[in-house]
Amino acid sequence: MKSIVVLISGNGSNLQAILDACASGFIDGEVCAVISNKANVLGLDRAKEAGSIAHCLPHQDYPTRHSYDQALQQLIDSHKPDLVVLAGFMRILTPEFVQHYSGKLLNIHPSLLPKYQGLHTHQRAMEAGDSIHGCSVHFVTEELDGGPVVLQARVPIFPEDELTAVTERVHEQEYSIYPLVIRWFCQGRLHQEGNLAFLDNEPLPEHG
Ligand code: GAR
Repeated sequence: MKSIVVLISGNGSNLQAILDACASGFIDGEVCAVISNKANVLGLDRAKEAGSIAHCLPHQDYPTRHSYDQALQQLIDSHKPDLVVLAGFMRILTPEFVQHYSGKLLNIHPSLLPKYQGLHTHQRAMEAGDSIHGCSVHFVTEELDGGPVVLQARVPIFPEDELTAVTERVHEQEYSIYPLVIRWFCQGRLHQEGNLAFLDNEPLPEHG
């Protein structure tokens, strides 16, 4: 069974989907620890409830991005994970950190990458008049939201949609695709080589 560390910054609804998928056996893995850069977030309660170790490592306690990422790396490595999962972890990571976990660092991003890298993705898709939007799971590389995409899910945007409707629609898909990708990883079927992701040794199309 693979051991997984999940990094969060808040609500942790993707974390919950991952915890549930581990509990049901869909993922042959265990979330050994959850680390949040923010205190008192719901995600930490979800972790404790599921029996995972919950750490809070506030970024304000560190003078530089580099020193924070070093402390984060030390804490993660104390759990010896096979996989590190970013689930709503809202910080930019240093190149050294990303390189250290190369091939075993996954992220979920709420857009159809390479569209809408960065923040406020739903709002930007709606403002652009897009009728199709979605989410992407990708390996993390030094390029922000730029690593190889493993899997994407598409959702419609209807003209009458409010932001909350679009957000919820994307979230529902996130809860499916993230556990599925993590399942593949834990089965040893998924790997990364540079800017390509491979499933069962077949290169995946560049954008999911
Ligand atoms: C998710 O929608 C995830 O895609 C997004 O944050 C949300 C976290 O929700 N991640 C990013 O924007 C990363 N750039 P959650 O805490 O309820 O899982």
